[in-house]
Amino acid sequence: MSNKNQVSIKKMSANSDQIYATQQPATPFKFDQKVAAVFPDMIKRSVPGYKDIIHIIQKLAERYIQKNSNAYDLGCSLGAASLAMSYGNQNSGVNIIGVDNSEAMIERCASNIQGFKHQTPIKLIQSDIQQVEILNASMVVLNYTLQFIPQSMRESVLRNIYQGMRPKGVLILSEKVIFDDPTTNHLMIDLHHQFKRENGYSDLEISQKRNALETVLVPESMSSHINRLKEIGFSHVCSLQQQLNFVSFIAIK
Ligand SMILES: C[S@@+](CC[C@H](N)C(=O)[O-])C[C@H]1O[C@@H](n2cnc3c(N)ncnc32)[C@H](O)[C@@H]1O
Repeated sequence: MSNKNQVSIKKMSANSDQIYATQQPATPFKFDQKVAAVFPDMIKRSVPGYKDIIHIIQKLAERYIQKNSNAYDLGCSLGAASLAMSYGNQNSGVNIIGVDNSEAMIERCASNIQGFKHQTPIKLIQSDIQQVEILNASMVVLNYTLQFIPQSMRESVLRNIYQGMRPKGVLILSEKVIFDDPTTNHLMIDLHHQFKRENGYSDLEISQKRNALETVLVPESMSSHINRLKEIGFSHVCSLQQQLNFVSFIAIK
């Protein structure tokens, strides 16, 4: 696969993330204009394995997107997973649908995807993923989005996705996770902070971002995710990739 047929996170990361570099009042994290402007740099420097899961999404799109079906990217941000599915899709009659409730993200996503020569059309919808109708889906991606949905609503979001999926359709779910064992949980958090320091974030940036995310991003354990996906009815569920406390799951209908 040549580089021109892959999503280049580097090409997207024009602006560097300085949002928490100076002391500021504690306010909950929001996907606003400021975040959208630096998002590719932020996610690359904050989420271990991000580039790898985008590549795996492309490989799974090659295998799982079915003829005359839809592929959804829920919480699409600037469209990295939408583009990966567009590059990966091998079939005709396919629509990729990117959904995000942040106006700033949807606006930037629209101009971002224009900069890539992708073959399968990508339609963008500004909406809460709790309201969106999933229809005729052979692939659905929730790449680090479910963690921002209130915990009590996550099951209904997943059930809605399951109901809109075709048999043999695939869901990719990526999440920050917690571990039941306090020692390993603490170790993973510490290693993640080290990962961020090695990517140029200061201790001030790390602690201010952590505080801002505290009430907004609520992680669950790997077993909670796997058990819920199985209870909803997915036939085959397992983890695809783990780097520290960031895990991607695959669930096949
Ligand atoms: C961590 S980012 C996702 C990254 C993206 N999936 C990727 O692979 O680059 C989370 C995204 O979910 C969006 N989001 C959060 N809650 C949402 C909701 N209830 N409905 C729709 N989008 C939501 C945010 O605006 C943000 O763009």
